[in-house]
Amino acid sequence: MKRVDVNQESEKKLFFHNYARLPIAVTHGEGVWLVSDDGTRYLDMISGIGVNALGYGDQRLVDAISSQAAKLIHASNLFMMEPQFELAAKLLSLSGLSKVFFANSGTEAIEAAIKIARKWAGQSGDQEKKEVLSLSNCFHGRTYGALSLTAKAQYSDGFDPLLPGTGMIAFNDIADLEAQVSEDTAAVFIEVVQGEGGIHRVSQPFIDRLKELREQYNFLIIADEIQSGCGRTGTFFSYTQVNADPDLVCLAKPLGGGLPLSAVIGSEKVADVLSYGNHGTTFGGNPVACAAGLAMIKAIEEDNLMEHAQEIGAFINHEVQKLAAKHPQILEIRQYGLMVGIMVDKEAKPYVGKALEKHVLINATSVNVIRLLPPLTISLEEAQHCITTLDEIFTEESAAAETSC
Ligand SMILES: Cc1ncc(COP(=O)(O)O)c(C=O)c1O
Repeated sequence: MKRVDVNQESEKKLFFHNYARLPIAVTHGEGVWLVSDDGTRYLDMISGIGVNALGYGDQRLVDAISSQAAKLIHASNLFMMEPQFELAAKLLSLSGLSKVFFANSGTEAIEAAIKIARKWAGQSGDQEKKEVLSLSNCFHGRTYGALSLTAKAQYSDGFDPLLPGTGMIAFNDIADLEAQVSEDTAAVFIEVVQGEGGIHRVSQPFIDRLKELREQYNFLIIADEIQSGCGRTGTFFSYTQVNADPDLVCLAKPLGGGLPLSAVIGSEKVADVLSYGNHGTTFGGNPVACAAGLAMIKAIEEDNLMEHAQEIGAFINHEVQKLAAKHPQILEIRQYGLMVGIMVDKEAKPYVGKALEKHVLINATSVNVIRLLPPLTISLEEAQHCITTLDEIFTEESAAAETSC
């Protein structure tokens, strides 16, 4: 017998009011479709906020999770566990880096990276070298360190004091970069493609100058690949597309195949920074999550999903440009693989509700950007369905505006 109703009324009673949930209760998924408790199928262009790279119900993932769960669900990092070792080895081979630390969420990976950076900088003997910088418009998470690096005041308002020794460089502004970094800089965090900030890619000249300044001042470049990583932008890491050569890389979201898992991957430079007891987590590198992550990466490789993401992304780009020619509401499309931002001439949130009515799940970010992060498995027909729906929404909006004139 059901003891609680899964509806908005119960939600208000049960939970802190920190989420603006959509008014549907989802029960399961099939491919790129999420199904609600009344049987309605929704085309999912959000994929659990960029998590479900394989969509829903991939049998390889289900098998990996169930067979590992039957063997061992948790033992902690007091022990050695094969799935964790295999996933670490896979991440090192994909990145060419030296060491891995596993945690459970994106923000925890950022926290670990901040700690590694500060400890590494302290080893230089310069006790002033503690400053950790990020780029304006960025998002790195919601725990105190990550929040202190996150640009938008909307996330940090009311939570001060934040972490001292943090600062922000204007996005893609080389003069500001030169003005901000110094001998005191321990690390600069970058999202090669800013997700929450509205799908903006860091420029090549900015990255080139950042690397020159790293030589001059000896700081770390830390790539936050939490949203852009694991194949979403068409390569496993987005930093390879701008040759950012990071010292630390943070991964999360799809890494655990839908289970909570994140990783910090570090270069030889930082390989010996952490020592016994310096940092840790009870659950980090959970064997079921690692087995899921391995299955997810294997499927991405086997099914050529990175190439697929490039192809479908290019298709969406092309089609949205066609829409832009007939709908003045569309100002710009920014697309890197299947990280897509459609900039509109007004607040984007109402489009989320309109798409929901048409059973398509989209997301709004950065005030006026419709963000699409579909599963990497999305077919051309499904992508076309999303485009057709957006076309209908913009057409109806223009028609309504004309009627009201
Ligand atoms: C680029 C980036 N960094 C960090 C985070 C934080 O990850 P989590 O929500 O898993 O803590 C996110 C989440 O959206 C993100 O997009």
